[in-house]
Amino acid sequence: MKILITGGAGFIGSHLAQYLVKNNHQVFILDDLSSGSLNNIAKIHSSLLHFQKGSILDERVLEKIIDSVDVIYHLAAVVGVQLVVKHPLKTMENNVKGTENVLKIANKKRKKVLLTSTSEVYGKSCKDKFSENDDLIIGPTSKSRWSYACSKIVDEHLALAYFKEKKLPVVIVRLFNTVGEGQSGRYGMVMPRFIKQALNDENITIYGNGKQSRCFCYVGDVVWALKKLMDREEAVGEIYNIGNCENVTINELADRVVKLTSSKSKKIYIPYEEAYGEGFEETMKRIPDIDKINKLIGFQSKFNLDAIIERMKNSI
Ligand SMILES: NC(=O)c1ccc[n+]([C@@H]2O[C@H](COP(=O)([O-])OP(=O)(O)OC[C@H]3O[C@@H](n4cnc5c(N)ncnc54)[C@H](O)[C@@H]3O)[C@@H](O)[C@H]2O)c1
Repeated sequence: MKILITGGAGFIGSHLAQYLVKNNHQVFILDDLSSGSLNNIAKIHSSLLHFQKGSILDERVLEKIIDSVDVIYHLAAVVGVQLVVKHPLKTMENNVKGTENVLKIANKKRKKVLLTSTSEVYGKSCKDKFSENDDLIIGPTSKSRWSYACSKIVDEHLALAYFKEKKLPVVIVRLFNTVGEGQSGRYGMVMPRFIKQALNDENITIYGNGKQSRCFCYVGDVVWALKKLMDREEAVGEIYNIGNCENVTINELADRVVKLTSSKSKKIYIPYEEAYGEGFEETMKRIPDIDKINKLIGFQSKFNLDAIIERMKNSI
């Protein structure tokens, strides 16, 4: 099969490309290298991999590349709290206009699209576990942090609108924190940042009081699930959470990283305002309900937190 990955030179996209090439698919990557890197795909030595530098905002480039493939994994987006807070306009343009372009041209060429949304869309909801049909509770538009969640909510609506009105086959996934080898800590991603600090015996910088918790899912588990969902007819027109249910506070994460890297690092606390600017709003807990995806494809994360840290520490 010929497969397009937008944002394929990014963290998750490059793992997906590697997985698909290993399974003998021809993979076409379109990436503007704004946060991704050619280093991420340098490890894939295969004539099945094709890279094109370009933007999903460029309709002509998109049209040509979508013409040449069978299906599309749409991952290109502005990602990461630090980037989003710093570039709210680029976030809205890329994530809304870019996705609209992908869906519009995919519809014209009748190509199936898998769209990567995010657990951020659950926003400030305080439920113990988030399921796909829950209300989405977003903060005020005056706080740029919410532009990422809002852009992805619009993307989901657009994709479902194309499905309902035009019968375009779309699958939507909401990824919870995804981690693994090759992830950059540059844009505030917590796991690679902590591991790098621990390996260098530097202070581990915790934003806020560290009592906020997250669930970390290994990228290998995520790309396996993306391919399985793309292949299932029943997934069309549906939304699926993908994540690990092992919940840890950021304080516990820092302690685990220090222990597993035998580091001398100490934890220090940085106020949110210093890390992200005035008036930042944090979500305290984000645990996925994975019943829906489990029922369809038997999804369970195979890697626990310690196994993930072990893998990542050897690649940083
Ligand atoms: N990593 C996570 O924990 C996580 C969680 C939830 C959702 N997601 C979603 O998964 C997808 C991939 O995320 P990632 O973690 O690999 O991030 P990433 O930043 O590593 O990858 C995004 C890629 O998109 C590219 N890109 C950005 N704008 C583009 C444009 N206009 N045209 C072409 N390419 C462009 C970037 O250069 C980068 O390679 C994103 O859609 C993101 O919203 C990721």
